[in-house]
Amino acid sequence: MQKKILKILKAKNKKKLVCLTAYSKPIAKILDKHCDIILVGDSLATAMYGMKNTHKVNIETMIRHGISVSSNLKNSLCVIDMPVNSYNNTRQAKKNALLIFKKTKCDAVKVECDGKNFGIIKSIVGIGIPVMGHIGFTPQYIKKFKVQGTVEREKNKLIEQAKKIQKAGAFSIVLECISASTAKKITSEIKIPTIGIGASIYCDGQILVTDDMLGLSGFYPKFVKKFINLNYVIDIGVEKYKKAVQKKKFPSKKNFFN
Ligand code: KIV
Repeated sequence: MQKKILKILKAKNKKKLVCLTAYSKPIAKILDKHCDIILVGDSLATAMYGMKNTHKVNIETMIRHGISVSSNLKNSLCVIDMPVNSYNNTRQAKKNALLIFKKTKCDAVKVECDGKNFGIIKSIVGIGIPVMGHIGFTPQYIKKFKVQGTVEREKNKLIEQAKKIQKAGAFSIVLECISASTAKKITSEIKIPTIGIGASIYCDGQILVTDDMLGLSGFYPKFVKKFINLNYVIDIGVEKYKKAVQKKKFPSKKNFFN
C-alpha cells in the first residue's frame, strides 16, 4: 500500500484530517503546506467554469486540472474526482481511473455512490488504484439539495452504504451534508476515515471547496465558513492598480526598462 494512503488510514482516532479542493498550480502549492488531502473536485465546473452543476465536466478537463495540481504537490495526498458518466460500468471505470491515474500521477480517485457503485470501487481498487467514496448529498446523482440521513430509514441506508464502500476497499469516504447523528454513527462504525462537508464535527476530517472558504465563489451555504474574504482583498488590489494606471503612477521607473 502507498505510504501516503497508509498515513491517512492511521490518522483515524488520532488526528483530524485537513482537506481542501484545488484546481490549479498556485492554490495547490499553498495548500500543500497545510493539507493532508487535496481534492481536484468536479466542483471546478461551478467554481471555475461557472457551470450550473457538475454534469458537463469531462475526463479531459479533470486530467488537465489534475496535472496542474498533482505535479505541484510534495506532501498532500492528491485525489481526483471521476466525472459523471466516466464510470457507468466496471470496464469503463477501470479504463478511465487508469487514464486519470497515469496521466496526472495522482494518488487516488473519488467515486460518488448514491446507493450504488460498490462493484465499481472494488474493480478500481482491484487494479491498484486507491479509491475515496462519497455518500450523502452526491451532486452527480441528486439534483435537489437536501440534508441526508435525518430520518431513521435514511440513516440506516447511509450506514449500510458506508460499510459497503469500506468492504469494496476504499481508503476513506466523503460524507456530504449528512445529519450530525448519522455522521457520528458512520464514523464510529467504520475503520476508514470519514471526511465531512456539512456533516458535523464528528467526522475524522473536514473538506471544503477552497473558493468558498476563501470568500471567492460567492457561494456560502450554512456549512461553509468564510475564513477570509478574498473577493474584498482582490477588489482592493485591483482598485489600487486602476487608480495608479489612471493617474499615470504605474508603471514607474522601477517597473520599466531604459
Ligand atoms: O467536487 C468536490 O469538490 C467535492 C467536494 C465537495 C467533496 O466532491
